[in-house]
Amino acid sequence: MLIRTAADLADHDVTDERLYLDRRRFLAAGAATAVLAAGPAGAVPVSGYTPNAVTLDDKPTPFEAATAYNNFYEFGADKEDPGKTAPGIFRTTPWSVTVEGACAKPGTVAVEDLIKPHRLEERLTRLRCVEGWSMVIPWIGVPLAGILQRFEPTSQAKFVAFTTLYDPTRMPGQKRPILDWPYVEGLRIDEAMHPLTLLAVGCYGRELPAQNGAPLRLVVPWKYGFKSIKSIVAISFVADMPVSSWMKAAPREYGFYSNVNPEVDHPRWSQASERRIGEFRRRQTLPFNGYADQVASLYQGMDLKKWF
Ligand code: MTE
Repeated sequence: MLIRTAADLADHDVTDERLYLDRRRFLAAGAATAVLAAGPAGAVPVSGYTPNAVTLDDKPTPFEAATAYNNFYEFGADKEDPGKTAPGIFRTTPWSVTVEGACAKPGTVAVEDLIKPHRLEERLTRLRCVEGWSMVIPWIGVPLAGILQRFEPTSQAKFVAFTTLYDPTRMPGQKRPILDWPYVEGLRIDEAMHPLTLLAVGCYGRELPAQNGAPLRLVVPWKYGFKSIKSIVAISFVADMPVSSWMKAAPREYGFYSNVNPEVDHPRWSQASERRIGEFRRRQTLPFNGYADQVASLYQGMDLKKWF
């Protein structure tokens, strides 16, 4: 069994520090964790959702690997670039997020205020990159649904678009036209509201490292990693399907849905298997990255070869 519910977990699992948040570690980390320390004050209930309901049997990827092998093109195209460059130059305080578009209560809020009313959770989650490597990361964050609901999306809100900061002084990779900056991603509204979709502010019991998308990033576990946009400054409710940066850069290679699908090859390579960082042998890639039970129903009736 790949996914266990809270009811399946024995007590020792629940207290396993690899899997669950040790709040003292956050508090000990001090001011750097302003967002995290502000965390579990008053919870905004999200209907149909049980906190910490989903975890995995998978072994977490070592912190050192998950923070030294990253895709974050704003800091260079090599996997080692973000870990080497971002921590020294990427200032992320103050940081605010604008929520706009088809909603009754648009606004710009400090990241602390965006997160504060919600209960922080730790979730061990697979991330499968379209390039064929994968990791298992204990993210800390808040289900996106509860945050979005505060802004009261209207019936016109069929999709949600996300935008990364544009600031070539803080993100030197943006000085080169590798992508049409700023980085943009999108989800259908039901994907954005799905309880597995997380807005992460931390990982491995600490604040998000710069190279992993500080101070705020998306985590969409059943989609290829590029949907999990980093360092978000804007969230927009829109009527039409957003054109993501990767769709714009290579529409034949990157579709809007980007669900992990071993049956749909990338035009330049197979998606049937993956290499978990830290492992030697490749493993079979699972449909929806192993989250089919939770998300396959979102795509009922859709041809996922056409809507890749
Ligand atoms: N977000 C931004 N803004 N810029 C990027 O280049 N890369 C994506 C995604 N989010 C990217 C981004 C890709 S391709 C992957 S695989 C994941 O981030 C990697 O996340 P990680 O570094 O935390 O493993």
